[in-house]
Amino acid sequence: MCGITACAGSDDVVDAVLTGLKNLEYRGYDSAGVATLTEEGIGVHKREGGIDRLVDVVDDSIAGRLGIGHTRWSTHGAPTDENAHPHTDCTGSVAVVHNGIIENYDELRGELSAAGHLFTSETDTEVVPHLIEAELAAGHEPEAAFRRAIDRLEGSYAIAALIDGTDAILATRRGSPLVLGVDGDRRFLASDVPSFLEFTSRVVYLHDGDVVRLATDGHEVTDADGDPVDRGIDTVDWGSEDAERDGYDHYMRKEISEQPDALERAVRGRIADDDRDVVLEDFPPGTFDGISEVHFLSCGTSHHASLYARQLLCDRGVPAHAFTAGEYATTPAPVSEETLVVAVTQSGETADTLASLRHADAAGARTLAVTNVVGSTAAREADDALFIRAGPEIGVAATKTFSSQVAVLALLVERLTEDVTGTPSDDREGMLSALRALPSHVGRVLEESTAASLAGRYGEADGRFFIGRGVAYPVAREGALKFKEITYEHAEGFAAGELKHGPLALVTRDTPVFAVFSGRHDTKTLNNVEEVRSRGAPVVAVASERNDRVLESVDECLAVPETHPDLLGVLANVQLQLVSYHVADLLDRSIDKPRNLAKSVTVE
Ligand code: F6R
Repeated sequence: MCGITACAGSDDVVDAVLTGLKNLEYRGYDSAGVATLTEEGIGVHKREGGIDRLVDVVDDSIAGRLGIGHTRWSTHGAPTDENAHPHTDCTGSVAVVHNGIIENYDELRGELSAAGHLFTSETDTEVVPHLIEAELAAGHEPEAAFRRAIDRLEGSYAIAALIDGTDAILATRRGSPLVLGVDGDRRFLASDVPSFLEFTSRVVYLHDGDVVRLATDGHEVTDADGDPVDRGIDTVDWGSEDAERDGYDHYMRKEISEQPDALERAVRGRIADDDRDVVLEDFPPGTFDGISEVHFLSCGTSHHASLYARQLLCDRGVPAHAFTAGEYATTPAPVSEETLVVAVTQSGETADTLASLRHADAAGARTLAVTNVVGSTAAREADDALFIRAGPEIGVAATKTFSSQVAVLALLVERLTEDVTGTPSDDREGMLSALRALPSHVGRVLEESTAASLAGRYGEADGRFFIGRGVAYPVAREGALKFKEITYEHAEGFAAGELKHGPLALVTRDTPVFAVFSGRHDTKTLNNVEEVRSRGAPVVAVASERNDRVLESVDECLAVPETHPDLLGVLANVQLQLVSYHVADLLDRSIDKPRNLAKSVTVE
């Protein structure tokens, strides 16, 4: 959802800014731009399209030691050259890049236009350079002008600005991510760490309201009142190779393949040697005493992982609900101090999830973030954080993070079950040993999957339905989401029992049905399969290789290793990821950057 970058150093920084943008392209890719402070003043290049188009037009004329960049996912105004960032003021002496939404831009634009400022784009961002220009014209020093301008903004933003005549980039954040990278004297700013991982893994997590000065010889952070603050330097344990494509055609394919390693990290050290107990460092037994119900808040794929965890909790006698965060923020469910609200978010920056988390917090619930990103807003704002350790995910479609979310949530479920009900779940040992084996089981799915050969037959259809029950239900929803997201073909996921309450009207011989079987409730799901087969629909089952009853009843099967029924969904999901991937590849879709989407959705 837009990525911003900046770099300050003792040499020309244009290449570093462009590299940072390239690494952030998953956040938005409909237009891009870069601005530097050159000997002649501010130089700007910007273009509709991806970073490669921008690289083609950037030349030596903008060489400089302070630079800012932007890759855009449009919210206000179409993806055009004019609407691309950086935006400048009337005099061309201020350039600004922005991620987020300025909610009062209409009012500010009216006021600035009335004062004679000329606007050249349809964006909300363009008010910012004009506000800075107005404050400079009123006699304020650059930093004071910057602070006074951002004080006028309502909404969410991460902003970096270049002002002619200064020796530093000025930047700030409120509600949108912004991290600083430290590499000797060189400094980077970005919406996300992978932007500068190939230069440094030393990061400073900025807080809302912080203002940072990025000069050619270092940086200084001050809080909203202008007082210096020490935010400390952390070292992230992601290497640059984690964020590279490594010979794969697509990041998505690479990330699907990384699932065994990611799962290994997710559970490492978190299961007792005898498989009898969960060892969650910050969540020892008794952590959740006093909790009587659990609410999950999340969006998209993370919502499906939450639905999965909800099924596990309900099965174990713990009241649990999974809400889509956007709806929860609009109509929050009542909570009390006995409610544990779990925000499940890969990025930790999804605006809907953060808004709903804040509602729950204000209403007195206990909050926990389950996220992939240390230092993310969700991790910092929730009472506690539990990390899924999946490593950077660059493909816009979430893959390995779903598996890691489910694995970590499954551990959390076991801890919660004991704390809330007073007794461990009936088959905790079986569940934990299956979790330990999950990486190797996923490895087998990856080696043996026949999804590629099946893809050629299911690419062309009027639509596809994905059905399942229990933990197979969220997997059906996730399978359909992935399919539509990267193939641009129609797919819907349903609870198997729901099909007959309406969607069955759409089922024909041209609508393949993918039926996910967990090993539980299979008889009922087989009945639903019969309902669609009798309407001529081809059926592909995703089930255990030992599930003979299912294997004998369907046209085609994607088999997975036998495991605990509570975890079979994770294996089935890997098969469905591969189906979507191969169909999208055959259709020649933009797999890593599907149209209209962005990795991290930082607007509500
Ligand atoms: C789908 C996908 C999205 C995200 C959703 C939430 O493949 O990636 O549906 O799952 O935008 O993002 P996070 O988990 O970062 O809160």
